[in-house]
Amino acid sequence: MTAIDTSKWERTAGLPEALPHIWEALQVKVDRMIGQIGTKSPHVAKEDGIYDDIRYDWWTSGFWPGILWIMHELTGKEHYKEAAWGWDEKFEQKMIQDNNFHHDVGFQFLPTAVIKHKLTGDKDGLRRGLQAANFLAGRFNIAGNFLRAWNQEKIGWSIVDSSMNLSILFWAAEQIGDPRFDHIGRAHADTVVSQFIRPDGSVNHIVSFDAKTGERIESLGGQGAGPHSSWSRGAAWALHGMANVYRYTGDTKYLRASQQVAHYFLACLPDDYVAHWDFRAADPLDGEPRDTSAASCAASGLLELAEALPGALGAMYRRAAERILLSLTKHYATWDRPDHEAILIAGTGNKPAGQNVDVSLIYGDYYYVEALAKLMGWKTRIF
Ligand code: GLY
Repeated sequence: MTAIDTSKWERTAGLPEALPHIWEALQVKVDRMIGQIGTKSPHVAKEDGIYDDIRYDWWTSGFWPGILWIMHELTGKEHYKEAAWGWDEKFEQKMIQDNNFHHDVGFQFLPTAVIKHKLTGDKDGLRRGLQAANFLAGRFNIAGNFLRAWNQEKIGWSIVDSSMNLSILFWAAEQIGDPRFDHIGRAHADTVVSQFIRPDGSVNHIVSFDAKTGERIESLGGQGAGPHSSWSRGAAWALHGMANVYRYTGDTKYLRASQQVAHYFLACLPDDYVAHWDFRAADPLDGEPRDTSAASCAASGLLELAEALPGALGAMYRRAAERILLSLTKHYATWDRPDHEAILIAGTGNKPAGQNVDVSLIYGDYYYVEALAKLMGWKTRIF
């Protein structure tokens, strides 16, 4: 295998001109990944560029099949569908056997069961998607209006990441005409707006509530640098997630929340537009690791805002997304490393825990593909 030719976009000034060439290269890349990844469930690739093989109930297991479903829909090529087809069945077996699933069933079943049903009408995909939505709804704490995070940690913990899981509730409400799912999705989103997004547009990872009374206890830093820091992937989850909630509900409160985070996120970007892992990790941030997964997820969320807000404001969000994506393409991708199994480098998983710093992350790859697909005219949505 040889390096993928990048010469066609090296000389281009902006993403619109480069996009068809990047999209062509992406197909070559994902075709190679199919052979390299095989039956693995990829999560992290370190220096050697080899993706690991994480258990199916890990929160990241839906992203690789999600890439494949998007590629299938946009190209019409069957081999992507064939590689994506069996994932939701593998998850269902895990759900029945030993239940390690938690709030992240949205991340897992939206890019597998739900998109499979949307694209093919597959009844098993529908059943599995609805089971996952039921499971997530069952984690709702009615006193505090939040979805419980994880299983082992405190029962009153909730996290900003769940902003992205809400789409499975809104999808379920539409599928079966049961507004309870919609109520829960909105109630949790209201808690994100009131408890996670600060007035300046920054967010933190975890909020701890009293599980009995629902009262807020405190903010916790989680995967961010501290309780008062500004974890960039958390911001990306809120930005993209609240834009999704607006798309489902039409309530401008969520649109404004997404914009509030977006403006803060954009104001914090360094010269190459690719976010550091936490905007308040140090002052100055030079020398702190980047997080390309925050960058790609935020870019995809900015494209939701661009779609929601036509006119000059929408165009501004679109240009911002394009700048991020062009920088990722030119400076943070593996086109020159044919044996590298990931698309992007320089992701940060959990810096405070010393886990997965300066690595490739499958969700970084997924949101990069998702964002480029939106620019290519992809209209179906996974989240
Ligand atoms: N959802 C966990 C993370 O963003 O790392």
